[in-house]
Formats: sequence, structure tokens, C-alpha cells
Amino acid sequence: MKLARPSKAFKVIAHRGLSQQYPENTKRAYQAALSQHIDMLEIDLHMTKDGVLVGIHDDTIDRTSNGKGAIKELTLEALRSFNFSRQSDFAENVSIMTFDEILTLCKNYSKTLLIEVKKPKNYPNIGEQIIQKLKNHAFPTNRVIIQSFDQTFIQQMAEIVPYMHYGVLISKRKYWLKQPTFSEIAKYADYVNPNYQLINKKFIARAHAVGLKIMPYTVNDSQTAKKLIQLGVDGVITDIPDEIFKL
Ligand code: G3P
Ligand code: CA
Repeated sequence: MKLARPSKAFKVIAHRGLSQQYPENTKRAYQAALSQHIDMLEIDLHMTKDGVLVGIHDDTIDRTSNGKGAIKELTLEALRSFNFSRQSDFAENVSIMTFDEILTLCKNYSKTLLIEVKKPKNYPNIGEQIIQKLKNHAFPTNRVIIQSFDQTFIQQMAEIVPYMHYGVLISKRKYWLKQPTFSEIAKYADYVNPNYQLINKKFIARAHAVGLKIMPYTVNDSQTAKKLIQLGVDGVITDIPDEIFKL
């Protein structure tokens, strides 16, 4: 099959790895995504009780593992004792990955890492730790985007580490509560990544007018992807990257 994309600049981002085929945010899911023709790998980060950055979406391990409890109340050693394949019929025992391990894995591929920082208020210095890890691994800055629903966190990060690329995530709730000021976001971020249901011509025009790129989440059917592409988004965060290439 010939793989294609709507335009050269259009980005296809694998959400939590190849999470439809493998347990989300695990080595198998990341590795499978990185081996595909995707442009970016999206991961979620939390921090353990003993201060280790780990790839996981929820702030507890209840949904994705055979254990229970909040990440911030569990040490890495405790987390290692659980199987993180609960969300799929995957037969193998799957361990949680540390951010260090994720960076070691990603360095072997030429993809961009889209790092979502979950609940930064829960984890003092999580931003600094992420930057330090990226430095330790000499991970190329032009292959990293740090994003969060916490706009203030992203703004502060951009003040401390201005050379990094940043994105602001916009949920439906947040959008309807207080519409974002795109010109303000554009002062510190490169991307505004909304729930795909918020996308319309006006949203795109306002964001593009101030130079923000738009990569909506989580686009999981081809027809929706097609419409968004026609409207002019710059990429899609998706669980079905191979379907996007078939459009
Ligand atoms: O990358 C954005 C998207 O992942 C945000 O939603 O809940 O899947 O982290 P969620
Ligand atoms: Ca995410």
C-alpha cells in the first residue's frame, strides 16, 4: 500500500503509542508506533512517590493495571510489580516505563516526542525534571513538544526554558467556560491542540492568524479526520494512524 498524507507538513501523531493494538503507554505500544510512518509519538507523564517520571495517562493505576492506587502514592518499585496490560487482551506481562526508558527508546527513531504533562500542580518541579532528563539523554530539542491542559504551567515553562516547543491543550469544558485568547497563547506556545469537536473555520482562522499550529485530539474515525483536514488542521492526534494515511 502506498502511504500518503494530505500535505508534506501535515502531522500524524500516535496517541499513547499504537494504543488500539497494544496496551496504551507501554513499550510495545510506543515501539509499534515508532516503527510506523507516523511523525510524532504522544505520551502522558506522571511522577511516582519517589520522584520518578513515568509514562501513564491516569493519575491512578486502577484502569490500566492489575493494581490499585495513585501514582503519586506508589514508588517505582511498587509500580514495577503490576501488569499494565489490563486495557487489552494482551497476553504478555507489561511493565510501566520510566521517562528515561522512553527517551532511550525514542532516540533510536527520528520521530518527534509530544509529551503531555498530566496534573503538573501535583508534582512540584516536574517541568525542570523533564528538561533535565532531555538534557541527560542529549535528546534533540527540535524533536520535542511539551503540552498540557494547564496553560499556566506551559506559560511558566516557556519563561524558564524558552528554546523548547510548547502546546496548550484545550478541552471542551475549558473552551466553553472561557474562550482562549489565541494571541496570548501564541506568545509562549507553538501549538493549540483542542478536542476535535471544537474545530471549525473560525477556530482555525483565529489560531493560524497568530501563527499557532493546530493538532486536535483524539481523532478516531476517517470521516472526521477527512473533515478536519479539509478545514485546515496541521495534524491529528489519533489511535488509528494507519487509517489516516489511507485518506
Ligand atoms: O494529546 C492530547 C490528548 O492525549 C489529550 O487527551 O485524555 O487522551 O490525554 P487524553
Ligand atoms: Ca494525552
